[in-house]
Amino acid sequence: MAGEQTEGTTERVVTESHDPDFPEQFLTFMRSGWRDSALPVGPRPEVPNYARRRDAVGSAFPGETLVIPTGPEKVRANDTAYPFRPGSDFAYLTGDHDPDSVLLLRPTGGGHEAVLYTRPRSARDNDEFFRSRHGELWVGRRHTLAEKSTELGLATRPLSELAAALADCAPGRTRVLRGLDPAVDAAVAPYDPPAPAAAADAPARLGRDRELAATIGELKLVKDEWEIAQLRAAIDATVRGFEDVARVLPADRPVPEALLEGVFGLRARYEGGGVGYSSIVGAGEHATILHWIRNTGATRPGELLLMDMGVEGHQLYTADVTRVLPVSGTFSPLQRQVYDIVYAAQQAGIDVIKPGVAFKDVHLTCMRVLAEGLAELGLLPVSVDEAMDESSTVYRRWTLHGFGHMLGIDVHDCSNARKETYRDGTLDEGYVLTVEPGLYFQPEDELVPAELRGIGIRIEDDVLVTSAGAENLSAGLPRRADEVQTWLAAQREAGFRLPG
Ligand code: GLY
Ligand code: MN
Repeated sequence: MAGEQTEGTTERVVTESHDPDFPEQFLTFMRSGWRDSALPVGPRPEVPNYARRRDAVGSAFPGETLVIPTGPEKVRANDTAYPFRPGSDFAYLTGDHDPDSVLLLRPTGGGHEAVLYTRPRSARDNDEFFRSRHGELWVGRRHTLAEKSTELGLATRPLSELAAALADCAPGRTRVLRGLDPAVDAAVAPYDPPAPAAAADAPARLGRDRELAATIGELKLVKDEWEIAQLRAAIDATVRGFEDVARVLPADRPVPEALLEGVFGLRARYEGGGVGYSSIVGAGEHATILHWIRNTGATRPGELLLMDMGVEGHQLYTADVTRVLPVSGTFSPLQRQVYDIVYAAQQAGIDVIKPGVAFKDVHLTCMRVLAEGLAELGLLPVSVDEAMDESSTVYRRWTLHGFGHMLGIDVHDCSNARKETYRDGTLDEGYVLTVEPGLYFQPEDELVPAELRGIGIRIEDDVLVTSAGAENLSAGLPRRADEVQTWLAAQREAGFRLPG
């Protein structure tokens, strides 16, 4: 193998108590007699997108070194790990999905040079390839540094050189995306000089490292064409996943929530990398629990079923869609009344979305329709206007959460963006966000009539802000109550078949 491939591969080899011994004769035998193989890699089509994003981050911090790790695998137990999920910001800036890699953006004359520190492929002249848990006989073929450089369009160096590179980082001229890789966090001490006195009404000052996280979070607000295509694919697969679930949902007998979760998971794994977040499958009163992911219940004829699920595509972009189905096939008049309130709130929210509209105004639009509906149901203890007043918001006993959130490589995307640019900001062309109002009547709520208790309804769609307004990317799944009923009947008629 080429010299560069052997660099940095002296992994610590660990023997677990269940592992057999390694006699020297076996070790020597294993180290020879292997031929090389090449990966047929070329530059990925989105390489220019990664480069543009790195340029944008770099230009916010001229003359400074930026350190962006992906993070290590997370231990599940002992020597077993959870499936690795790359750091979202790292993946956004590199496209690399391997654990432990670190992106350095180092200042050069005109801007920054990008260097990816990453684990090269296993050599065959040491024991790493069959004894380390990262070794190729355990995890499969890794890229050589050259292969990775070609595929991702940036310079690569072995992880073994990272410590020296980090030791070279000047305090005060370096920012680290913290909280992802404890080793990187420890290697570069935080540096925050005392802040100058700020005006009383000035926004809270972020630390230097938080400024880096916020800058990336804000850059992610506007999706490029390639990202929108990724989201469309994940959402289309999600539509098919909901169809699968509707096809196995019997009208007349219980079915475990876990089975429905599994059927959606099958589609997610088949078409993408898996689910973008733990699927919420809430039958009956479980629908009133916002993040019901235990999924230990079962459907009951006559009740509602809330499902909040999204496929994550191979490049990590995820859908986030919620539908509520009447298990028996038709909504009861009361279920329908609540459903129609939530539908009207969601539609009102979607209708106001366009560039320049305040995020908060979409929220208030949805919430006012929900509050009006609660008043019609006779539940609000005060007028709608009073309930909507910032000093009250009592309607929230039954709405519980905001109208939605940004969506992208994370289900709750851009969460590091500053409050001023996100929650207190305005929408722009290229933003993708969920619109997901809901009404939830807890089974123990003494302030609602008994017949409403245990009803939970949320309708959630994924919306692209366009120059003209909003495009509902999840329109492939019907939302109006009568259309949901027709769609459910059609899925049942079609019947379930394994994908493929
Ligand atoms: N779909 C889960 C959430 O938005 O929190
Ligand atoms: Mn959501």
